[in-house]
Amino acid sequence: MNTVWSDYVQGIKTLYYSRKLRFDDLFFAQYQGLFGLDRDKEMKILEIGCGPGALAEALRRWYPKAKITAIDRDSQFIAFARKNIAGVEFCEGDATALPFADNTFDVTISNTVQEHVEPKSFWGEQLRVLKPGGICLCLSARKGVSVQAPCLAETAEEKAFWEKTPSWEETRDAYQVCQYPMTEAEIPASMEANGFCEVATGYAVIDLTPDNPRFSAELAEAMIEAQRQTSLEAIESAHLDGDEAVVAAVNAKYDERIRLYRQGKKQWDTATSVTMVIRGRK
Ligand SMILES: C[S@@+](CC[C@H](N)C(=O)[O-])C[C@H]1O[C@@H](n2cnc3c(N)ncnc32)[C@H](O)[C@@H]1O
Repeated sequence: MNTVWSDYVQGIKTLYYSRKLRFDDLFFAQYQGLFGLDRDKEMKILEIGCGPGALAEALRRWYPKAKITAIDRDSQFIAFARKNIAGVEFCEGDATALPFADNTFDVTISNTVQEHVEPKSFWGEQLRVLKPGGICLCLSARKGVSVQAPCLAETAEEKAFWEKTPSWEETRDAYQVCQYPMTEAEIPASMEANGFCEVATGYAVIDLTPDNPRFSAELAEAMIEAQRQTSLEAIESAHLDGDEAVVAAVNAKYDERIRLYRQGKKQWDTATSVTMVIRGRK
């Protein structure tokens, strides 16, 4: 039973709610333009490093004729996905030793996984399980646009709390995450060097600005709530005693943000994300 990621790196709610937004149907046209997949084809898709399953869930909606399999090595993510998402086969397993026969899938896809897996195995295993001519889609989060509403600024309680916790670099090295980061130029070069052809790149810009009137109230509030859950889970993941005051402070500031939204007092804060899509063919 492996629960390192969900216990110490990123929790279920952080990944599920943030990705539910990034893979909302509103943004499908952007992804489809970059994926270039045939929606009417009966294909087999494998998602690698699926976490709690929000991308697999979107793929199920977007490609109704596809058979979708999704794999991750974190047991809690797979248990959550199996319980909450229908129509996808979720399995526990390692991206460096995929438990599938050669030439099985038409498409492999991953989101924010490449930087965590040794490149020769990451690409090599996908190349092995893809059918000849199959498509590999690597999604990579790049620097987005982040603007904070004044009411969401770090509180004194939060500042004092974070001073007691390990830095991101310490967490990264303790749990061996993000050991293979690559630039926007290095990822497609690495894909080509590891055997893929017709490599192409593109970018999806996912506007997560609650006050943007093109978003429904439901989606706008989901954007604010996703940030709240990320903050609360980060506190929980620190596994420190006496975190009640900081949890209360975080809840108070997000309650205020929701109140301002409902009153129509615009803050124009944003957590816009940029996803690079690298597409190659076996
Ligand atoms: C940043 S998270 C992204 C999760 C998911 N793709 C998403 O966007 O919500 C990275 C994921 O890769 C998984 N992972 C990392 N190394 C892995 C490996 N060798 N085999 C399988 N999964 C792995 C982690 O368990 C984690 O769920």
